[in-house]
Amino acid sequence: MQLLKERILKDGTVKPGNILKVDSFLNHQMDIPFINEIGKEFKRRFAGSPITKILTIEASGIGIACIVAQYFGVPVVFAKKAQSLNLDGEMYTTKVQSFTHKKVYDVILSKKFLQPEDHVLIIDDFLANGCALQGLIEIVDTAGATLEGAGIVIEKGFQHGGDALREKGIRVESLAIVDSMSDDSLTFRA
Ligand code: G4P
Ligand code: NA
Ligand code: NA
Repeated sequence: MQLLKERILKDGTVKPGNILKVDSFLNHQMDIPFINEIGKEFKRRFAGSPITKILTIEASGIGIACIVAQYFGVPVVFAKKAQSLNLDGEMYTTKVQSFTHKKVYDVILSKKFLQPEDHVLIIDDFLANGCALQGLIEIVDTAGATLEGAGIVIEKGFQHGGDALREKGIRVESLAIVDSMSDDSLTFRA
C-alpha cells in the first residue's frame, strides 16, 4: 500500500533492537483518516471472503481492528493477555512468547465469542516473529472456526514470521513488508 509506505518513510523511526516506531500515526497517536484507508484496503483484499468476525490481541491491535471492522460490518473480539490463569473451562487459552519483550504470557479468549460457524479475519499492527499471530491462529483452530486470513499493517519481513505462516498455507496480507532497516535507510519488499 503506497500511502502506508510513504508514511513509514516520512514518520517512522528505527530504534535499537530492530524496532520500527510508528507512534505518531499508528500505535500511540492514531491518524484516523489514514487508518480508514487501511480499513478500505483490507476490505478490498478480503472482499471475496465471508468474514463474520475480526480477531485481534490487546493492546495496540484493538483500535486498528475497530476501524477495519466498520468496512466489514462485523464485531471485533480481542484476545486478552493474562498474568495468571483462572481456568474455568470457559476460556480458550494459549501461551505466546514475546521476543520484543523477552517474556512468555498467556492469551485468553472467552469461548462465547468464537464459534465453529465463524469465519475469522485476524488483524494486527505488527508481524515480527509471528508468535502472537500463531497464538491467535491456535485459538481459531481450537474453536473449530474457519480462518480466512490475517491482515497485518506492517510486517518485518526480515524476521520471517509471515513467511513461515504463508508456507503453511495461511493467507497473510501485509500492507507494507519491511525487508531491511537501519538508522538511515529502510527498504520494502516489492
Ligand atoms: P511476534 O508476536 O510477531 O513474534 O513479535 P514480538 O513478540 O517480537 O512482538 C512483541 C510486541 O512488539 C507485539 O506487540 C508486536 O506488535 C510489537 N512489535 C514487534 N516489532 C515491532 C516493531 O518493530 N515496532 C513496533 N512498534 N512494535 C513492534 P504486543 O506485545 O502485542 O504489545 P502491544 O503493544 O500491542 O500491547
Ligand atoms: Na504492539
Ligand atoms: Na499488536
